[in-house]
Amino acid sequence: MKMFELSKRFKKLPSYLFAQIDRQKAELKKRKVKFIDLSIGDPDIFAPLKVTYALGNSARLKENQKYALDQGKSKLRASIKNWFKKRFKVSLDQDSQILPLIGSKEGLVHLPLGFVNPGDYVIIPSPGYPGYRGAALFAGARIFQMPLLEKNRFLPEFKKIPLSVKNRARLIYVNYPNNPTTVLAPSGFLSGLVRFCSKYGIILAYDNAYSEIYFEKKPKSILEIKGAEEVSIEFHSFSKTFCMTGFRVGWAAGNKDLIKGLLKVKTNIDSGIFGAVQDAAGYALDKETRYTENLRKTFKQRRDIFVKGLESLGFKSIFSESTFYVWARIPSSFKSSISFAQYLLKEKKIVATPGVGFGKYGEGFIRFALTVDKAVLRIAIALLELDK
Ligand SMILES: Cc1ncc(COP(=O)(O)O)c(C=O)c1O
Repeated sequence: MKMFELSKRFKKLPSYLFAQIDRQKAELKKRKVKFIDLSIGDPDIFAPLKVTYALGNSARLKENQKYALDQGKSKLRASIKNWFKKRFKVSLDQDSQILPLIGSKEGLVHLPLGFVNPGDYVIIPSPGYPGYRGAALFAGARIFQMPLLEKNRFLPEFKKIPLSVKNRARLIYVNYPNNPTTVLAPSGFLSGLVRFCSKYGIILAYDNAYSEIYFEKKPKSILEIKGAEEVSIEFHSFSKTFCMTGFRVGWAAGNKDLIKGLLKVKTNIDSGIFGAVQDAAGYALDKETRYTENLRKTFKQRRDIFVKGLESLGFKSIFSESTFYVWARIPSSFKSSISFAQYLLKEKKIVATPGVGFGKYGEGFIRFALTVDKAVLRIAIALLELDK
């Protein structure tokens, strides 16, 4: 039988980190082994109940059972515009500056197809959300991994990016509140970022998927920063803010040309977001502020318990400023983040994500997702304590 080879482009792509972890989890399930899953950023908490009613009601309307071919319903874009104004004090034009997406990942990954030529550089953070790498490779781009180091509080140093890269870079992905390191970006850094992108003519894809999952300090939108509208497109998600990961809905906002280009890519690939999902998403933005406030409280309690537990076990360099992750240095007795993750899986039946899976500069760290309740987190700490 003829073997079909993958394309050259595709061969460069490592298998998707979470797909590998999923396979390991499936294996455990098959063997009926109980485990604690702190690996993937998929909250255990239900989406707002009324959002699901809105979804059901809207699903019955004929208009929603047809292709949703335009750039998202104008009603949803109006809700996004109002939410953005209230949250960030930024005014957006709902026709030219807002584009609903099938989840923020969809937009983040499709963007380079509209703007990056083969051989151009795409700058990605390392460690960083794995979707950026695939996005760059699909567009035939060269990748520059920008280190996020603990000594810089996981902020990149633009002056260390070689001139040859800066001059040929078309796009940079930046993500704060940051997955996996959890840190926030100070305003001064954001202004420097916009200046950097303006100076070198680089598109700034600002991934703000976790803008609402914060504790002490409130994250900003890049569009609050002077000059950002000239160079930036910002990505938002309903997945984290309203625990709607499976609904697949998010949006992009910002520079008109970037929105227009991304829409053009999308019209050639997908046929819109299910209308009922759009209605449910609009409902969430209009009405469910309290839900997200409570969500933050829940994650803060979880974070406090887990971080305190790790501290008591002697873990060093523990970060959990925002998002629902904890990023911690692996114990010095382990050679690599993969060996530590394997130890956790085999000996403790805890699934966590090795830092190196987010890029080479993530080595030495492990990421725990706080997507189980407090009691389970306490059990995880107790398991880690055993034969320490
Ligand atoms: C940093 C970051 N950006 C984007 C996404 C994608 O989110 P979604 O496509 O569900 O909106 C995720 C999901 O985990 C993420 O961690």
